[in-house]
Amino acid sequence: SLDECHLVTLPRVNDARGNLTFIEGGRHVGFDIQRVYYLYDVPGGAERGGHAHRELEQLFIAMSGSFDIVLDDGNLRQRFSLNRSYVGLYVPRMVWREIDNFSSGSVCMVLASQPYDEADYFREYGDFRDAVRQRPAAPASVPL
Ligand code: TYD
Repeated sequence: SLDECHLVTLPRVNDARGNLTFIEGGRHVGFDIQRVYYLYDVPGGAERGGHAHRELEQLFIAMSGSFDIVLDDGNLRQRFSLNRSYVGLYVPRMVWREIDNFSSGSVCMVLASQPYDEADYFREYGDFRDAVRQRPAAPASVPL
């Protein structure tokens, strides 16, 4: 759900020759990284995403430029702006995402917990929301 989504500040080695950021599995990312992909050459006004995943966990990083990610857990919606090479946005399973406002020349890198699998996608928002409603999150407290 949305309360599991959060920004991760990655280590930075600042240097007059240029800065360096690194990501270590098991330390900066809570899942086993099985795939890396990136979006680039995104034309102005384009939107990416528009789906949710049954099991996949991801970390989004604006390697260059900026873009927004709108997250939706079927109940709440929140917009995040990414514009730093050392900040990642963690997105757990079962969160709908839309990516827009790409700046020119921006690069969106994604670390993912599973190889690509089309069967893991919800491509229709209605299907995603039905699935969320059928299996609601655990209640905050159990009534007596
Ligand atoms: P999709 O996940 O819909 O892109 P986005 O969420 O960034 O808008 O993927 C677009 C196409 O690329 C789709 O046909 C599947 C293919 N694809 C792969 O083959 N491997 C991958 O790792 C990814 C992310 C996509």
